Amino acid sequence: MVIPAQASGQAPIATPTPGASTPIVCGVNCPYPYDYDSAASPQVVVNKARPLNPLTYKPVLDKWLPLAVPAASGYRAVKKAMADAGVGTLCLNSGYRSFATQTSTYNRDLSRYGKTVAEHLAAHPGYSEHQTGLAIDVSTTALGCKITNFGATKAANWLAANVYKYGFIIRYPAGKTAYTGYQYEPWHIRFVGVDISVAMHNAGEVVLEKFFGLPAAPSYTK
Ligand code: DAL
Ligand code: ZN
Repeated sequence: MVIPAQASGQAPIATPTPGASTPIVCGVNCPYPYDYDSAASPQVVVNKARPLNPLTYKPVLDKWLPLAVPAASGYRAVKKAMADAGVGTLCLNSGYRSFATQTSTYNRDLSRYGKTVAEHLAAHPGYSEHQTGLAIDVSTTALGCKITNFGATKAANWLAANVYKYGFIIRYPAGKTAYTGYQYEPWHIRFVGVDISVAMHNAGEVVLEKFFGLPAAPSYTK
């Protein structure tokens, strides 16, 4: 299958298949059409050094789910596949968060834990992937859709092994805080598109910044 090149103007490429063996890490000569700068791009990289532009960006949302349109269809596919695998019923704990909602989320963690801890848990408003509508905190109905202890479930194991097939990555992997700026979040999945998620899987690369050749973003630069 051939997918169209996007804003990059690159030639159409064949969609990679899960399990294909060519290890490709993107960067200057990435063969995949991508745009990690635009807020509406499925590949946008948002971190402590890369705020949204504009800071109050709001995506076009799905009709039913609080998610950007491509992430919503990906979420439905993951939910069905997880049910078919018999490991739990996926549910959405938190999807799109506006600038105002992210302000409350961050301020809540700030008052509970202080600045150092809060900044490893929640992004400043304008710096959260949740504001793109492409990030989802998921859990299962067995946990009442709470994220606490989700990492210890069969569903979380299944997600970590399979979510790439549906265009998602586990965005804040264990042991990668020095790159991502955040603690391990087994519940936070990020839609990047199946071409990128499969290429990352095939390359064995779990950090989005590294895949695109972008600098680590452990802390805010201003
Ligand atoms: N918990 C993630 C990092 C956020 O607040 O966007
Ligand atoms: Zn999240």
